[in-house]
Amino acid sequence: MKRIAVFNQKGGCAKTTTVVNLAGILSKRGYKILVVDCDPQANASSTLLMENDENDVPTIVDVLSGHININEAVQVAYLRTRGNGKPKDVGISVIPAERGLSAVDLASESVLADAIHDLIGEYDYILFDCPPYISVFTINILAASDYVLVPATVDKDSLDGYGELVKTIYTLKCNGVDLKILGVFLTLLNQRESFDQYICRQCAKIFGDEYIPVSIRRHTFAKQASLFGRPLCYYRPSSPVAKDYDALVDNILERIK
Ligand SMILES: Nc1ncnc2c1ncn2[C@@H]1O[C@H](COP(=O)(O)OP(=O)(O)O)[C@@H](O)[C@H]1O
Ligand SMILES: [Mg+2]
Repeated sequence: MKRIAVFNQKGGCAKTTTVVNLAGILSKRGYKILVVDCDPQANASSTLLMENDENDVPTIVDVLSGHININEAVQVAYLRTRGNGKPKDVGISVIPAERGLSAVDLASESVLADAIHDLIGEYDYILFDCPPYISVFTINILAASDYVLVPATVDKDSLDGYGELVKTIYTLKCNGVDLKILGVFLTLLNQRESFDQYICRQCAKIFGDEYIPVSIRRHTFAKQASLFGRPLCYYRPSSPVAKDYDALVDNILERIK
């Protein structure tokens, strides 16, 4: 089981979109996936659980507060894989988030890691969708992960955030946490803009091996797929942006091997 946190402390750089699409592609390749929604905005849960009927289900807040065992908070995501076909279980489960998450009191850095322990062996990949800030809670997510994957947009805040993150990871490592940087990749890329292309080349120079040379283009299908509660590979599998995410997964699996 590999645990990957998708993190950047900037909002709007496609963390949630990346989690949803990685979950989709990995499930299509036959892996069992658990998405743990760790953002109080709960966008990953509302996307992946759109076709689920039940309301008022347990969330990660109940797990972190110690009210329930983590297994009780797991929901199977039912997804439409084509047109208006019936939603079905494709091998993705979700632990939803809720607004109250931002107020949860965590006694230590390892509350989430300890909770996740009870799931070991059940999933091939656990993907954490992170909130856009560094806090005790984000430290908990990083401490519960084997890898951190960083989507970044072509702007200063998003790329500066990377330096902050590296410092945080260094501090965690000094405290005995075994966390690896899977890499940073660019999202929401305007392919025709020469400035965006220039930033890609600069990132390759600055980040070296930590730069994943697969960028995700900006395309309205990415937005539409989320609105319809589906990963791109089940919504527009042959679209160029779906293929970008597929290439990203190839690269990530190569790095994890
Ligand atoms: N490749 C893309 N092309 C077009 N829109 C995108 C793409 N990736 C993400 N988006 C949109 O950008 C917005 C921010 O993405 P989101 O995944 O919610 O970011 P974050 O989780 O980092 O805040 C959302 O409206 C999303 O639908
Ligand atoms: Mg998000």
